[in-house]
Amino acid sequence: MSEKRAPLIGFLIVFVVLGLLWIWYPFGTPLLPMSTIFPLTENAEATQWMYALVYWITLAVFLGVEGLLLYALFRFRKRGDETAHPKQTHGNTPLEVGWTLATVLLVIVMYVPSCQAIRFHQGPPPSANPLVVDVTGRQWFWEYYYPEYDLTTANELVVPKDRTVVFHVTSTDVIHAFWFPRLGGKRDAVPGRNQPMWFTPTETGVFQGQCTEYCGSSHALMRMQVVVSTPADFDAWVKQQKTPPPPESMAGFGVFAASGCIACHMTMANDKTVLHMNGPNLMKVATRKQIAAGTLENTPENLKTWIHDPQHVKPDAKMNVPAMQCTGPGQPDACCRDVQIGNCLPDATVDQLVSYLEMMK
Ligand code: CUA
Repeated sequence: MSEKRAPLIGFLIVFVVLGLLWIWYPFGTPLLPMSTIFPLTENAEATQWMYALVYWITLAVFLGVEGLLLYALFRFRKRGDETAHPKQTHGNTPLEVGWTLATVLLVIVMYVPSCQAIRFHQGPPPSANPLVVDVTGRQWFWEYYYPEYDLTTANELVVPKDRTVVFHVTSTDVIHAFWFPRLGGKRDAVPGRNQPMWFTPTETGVFQGQCTEYCGSSHALMRMQVVVSTPADFDAWVKQQKTPPPPESMAGFGVFAASGCIACHMTMANDKTVLHMNGPNLMKVATRKQIAAGTLENTPENLKTWIHDPQHVKPDAKMNVPAMQCTGPGQPDACCRDVQIGNCLPDATVDQLVSYLEMMK
């Protein structure tokens, strides 16, 4: 390949790959769990409509501009042993006025529906009796309080199908952003502010969400789920969440308290008293599908991993239990004395805690 052709071929390859990616984008698979291009509510639909509009307009502009560029590259390339400069031109008033006006027109075509979509999202919810959920972003989990039921839970939001949900989004530490891509827009969680947002889920299922404002080292691990249930299943869930722990869990509660877990986590109540404790409320932790803010599936093995070494699962998590290699015979106490920070939990204690938390359903 001649040295002169190499850059041109490189450019062509980049152009073709970018073009293919762009054309593929709107036909991407619905298996992408956090894609806005498969909306499930009218709010998400309004956002997707805007995306599609901007997408097709910019695709047309891209193809037009790149097509003209390629045409010029080939049509006016250097041929043979030409040495003279081609004819130089400068300025063309009709062309310059034309592309300036065309650009302004395209911006107006995108601007007006954007304003309408924002008004729709930030306007009043279309329901006189919405389900209200107070959402608090924390480093690094999501806390939900349902005033109607005086009920606090974490990470896994449960809502009934076909009832508008109004969220009041805030934070107790830094700025986070609350986002279920297939169900609605994003809302920043800002300390000291109450930011409203709403959507009406119309399909049952489990949908993924994610904090979308950088909030520290474990920002990417600040995930959440929303479970959209039938109204009957939702009522059953509320009832279950309000049921006190089983009496046989009391022995485990002793270990939970003695191990220091109780300083941050509540397991005896599921109401407003639990709000804004340092850690998530664990009263019904066994009913959740995931733990550690969507980082691990909720299995006994994963609970054990998490309690043993939370910093490894979620760096800088406020749960600071150092990883211990205290499993040898007669070793735990000696190991624990060597640890300078936080608590130290020998294997047997972690097993008791896991059994206890498994009863919390
Ligand atoms: Cu919370 Cu990013």
